[in-house]
Amino acid sequence: MAKHQGVSLSVIKRLPRYYRFLGDLLKKDVTRISSRELAQLMQLTASQIRQDLNCFGGFGQQGYGYNVADLRREIGSILGLDRNIPTILIGVGNLGRTIARHMDFESSGFQLVGLFDNNPSVIGQSVRGLTVSDVAQLDEFCHARQPKAAILCIPREVARATAERLISLGVTSFWNFSHYDLLLDFEGLIVENVHLGDSLMTLSYRIHAGEQAKENSIQSN
Ligand code: NAI
Repeated sequence: MAKHQGVSLSVIKRLPRYYRFLGDLLKKDVTRISSRELAQLMQLTASQIRQDLNCFGGFGQQGYGYNVADLRREIGSILGLDRNIPTILIGVGNLGRTIARHMDFESSGFQLVGLFDNNPSVIGQSVRGLTVSDVAQLDEFCHARQPKAAILCIPREVARATAERLISLGVTSFWNFSHYDLLLDFEGLIVENVHLGDSLMTLSYRIHAGEQAKENSIQSN
């Protein structure tokens, strides 16, 4: 039984950030760190860090802090980063091509094994050492390679039909950029929806809120 069963998704979502910061520390030859120092670095509170890491049995030792390499290894194992889940990407346009080229799949627990598109001018191109296949060959490919995850970089209008086909071929997890809500129509999937626009709107809010705060302080002076 995995030791992280029942841990809230909000804690799990913070783990990649811990993993990243601990990796940076290792690169700087830092071997051990207290929760207070890690909190300062990550702009969290020490108690938040202790609370998060205690969910997995706690890795720190009183008076010693955390061993950076051990903690990073534990978090990597909780996140399953050594699993190399066979993954395909559908839609090798502007976004799909960028993701295929620039994401470090191997360090994130995935292995990109196939690229698919329906545009004849894209099919046959080589991206990240993989040749883009015709989406018509999906069935054959999935039977042979059994990918478990798919990255959807296709237009919203075709996402439902594509997802239906992928699910029938045994794909159960989706990294979904298509703006189509898979979970409205299909149950039992593992889906991470990505909307870069949400992050941009949050930035807009924060700029706006910052301007308002400045204006308010000028008015009250
Ligand atoms: P694009 O038009 O450059 O690429 C789309 C690719 O999908 C094309 O190569 C096209 O031939 C292919 N395609 C279309 N129908 C297909 C099908 N049935 N099967 C296989 N391949 C198919 O568009 P871009 O800029 O790459 O964007 C892709 C999608 O991602 C768009 O729907 C866009 O709205 C969305 N998007 C989402 C973002 C997010 O944060 N979630 C950010 C940017 C874009």
